[in-house]
Amino acid sequence: MTSTNGFEPRIVAFLCNWCTYTGADLAGTSRLQYPPNIRIIRTMCSGAVDPVYVLKPILEGVDGVLIGGCHPGDCHYQSGNYKARRRYIALREILKSTGLDEDRVWLRWISASEGQKFAETVTEMVASIKDLGPNPMRDQWAV
Ligand code: FES
Repeated sequence: MTSTNGFEPRIVAFLCNWCTYTGADLAGTSRLQYPPNIRIIRTMCSGAVDPVYVLKPILEGVDGVLIGGCHPGDCHYQSGNYKARRRYIALREILKSTGLDEDRVWLRWISASEGQKFAETVTEMVASIKDLGPNPMRDQWAV
C-alpha cells in the first residue's frame, strides 16, 4: 500500500538512556532533520522494555513502535540488549499471529555518537509505515 490522504504515522520510541536517547539528543543538538512523527520515551535499557509496553500502544492504534538500544556488547547492563533482541523476535511472531504487520515494530542499535543514524532511522521508519498505511487497530477506538 502506498501512502495516501496525508497519512502521518504516530510512532512511539523507547530509547535506551545510554545510547539511542543520547544519539537522539545529538541529532537534535546537531540540528539534523527528521520527521516529527515520533514520541520518545526514555528507558534505562532496551532490556527494560517489557513486551506489554510495545503491544499496548499497537493494540490502541499507534502505527509503529521503535525500540532503540546500545550495540551488541555495549549494553551498560551487560546483556539487556540481547534480552531485547529475544523479545523483539517473539513480539514479531505475536504480531504476525494476530494479523498485524510485524514491520510496525523496529529494533535498532544506535549509539550515543550516531545522531545521523538516529535521524536516518526515523526517516526510514516513517516512510516504511506510511507504505504500510494506518494501523487497522485505529478503527477500534474511533468514536
Ligand atoms: Fe543501552 Fe542496555 S543500556 S541497551
